[in-house]
Amino acid sequence: MSSAICDETEFREILDQHRALRELLERIGAMLRQRTASIDQVAELLGQLGDTLIKHFTLEEAGGYYGDALLRAPQLLSRANDLLAQHPKMARKAQRLVEIAPLGAAARSWRDETQMRFDAFVRELLDHERGEDCLIQEAYSRDVEASD
Ligand SMILES: [Fe+2]
Ligand SMILES: [Fe+2]
Repeated sequence: MSSAICDETEFREILDQHRALRELLERIGAMLRQRTASIDQVAELLGQLGDTLIKHFTLEEAGGYYGDALLRAPQLLSRANDLLAQHPKMARKAQRLVEIAPLGAAARSWRDETQMRFDAFVRELLDHERGEDCLIQEAYSRDVEASD
């Protein structure tokens, strides 16, 4: 992770990515709930989710998003490290969502299986994003308090 200062454009780009990610999660969720999409259509969107996440995590890690927050509030380092450690785990989980094993007739259908894995993944990702929002807000509010 670099400790570069997160500039306005980069910060806005991360916020845009957060918005785009939530929209993509909603599209996939709706597609699974409608139960009419083919396995290929679902797999294509899940593949898109994996790619989007990797780009998003890379930007957060390489840029000053965390670095800037930690310059303002270094005491948040261990929380930041915990959040960053979740990135590779979630990237792997997203990749596994696409790898739907062939299921026998008696097994749960691929749609139910994918829905179950996807719902769990969404909870985990949104939890991560909330943790990140809290960390950034806390870093900036502590910085403001300190300069009062
Ligand atoms: Fe993140
Ligand atoms: Fe994020």
